[in-house]
Amino acid sequence: MRVKVSRKANFNAAHRLYRPDWSHEKNDAVFGKCNNPNFHGHNYDLIVSVEGPINQETGFVMDLKVLKDLIKAHVEDTLDHKNLNTDVPEFKNLNPTAENIAVVIWNKLRPHIDKTHTLEVVLYETPRNFVTYSG
Ligand code: NI
Repeated sequence: MRVKVSRKANFNAAHRLYRPDWSHEKNDAVFGKCNNPNFHGHNYDLIVSVEGPINQETGFVMDLKVLKDLIKAHVEDTLDHKNLNTDVPEFKNLNPTAENIAVVIWNKLRPHIDKTHTLEVVLYETPRNFVTYSG
């Protein structure tokens, strides 16, 4: 019997979507307003889910306090109030799209989650636009 437990979190960050190897026209055509050279911000909502067996001693799949602390240490402390393009090494050569941010978050958390558990990251860039990555 496997159960999925989830924790919600939030962070604010600025980004710009563009490729330096593309012309200004092509960047504008593909990325639109997200190619604003002066960056723009998003209020990201995050749902991190861990699925696994219920520990018979504790009744938990995972202590959500532990998950909360992992998200704080590895996601909020590294991404919150940052300019993703300039402040976060993972995006030095990687476009900080919601897709890529979700993958970066998953990669940061995965080493800290029990191997027998699966990890899923859902990232909302706006209330209506969200992406899911589970490895
Ligand atoms: Ni944007």
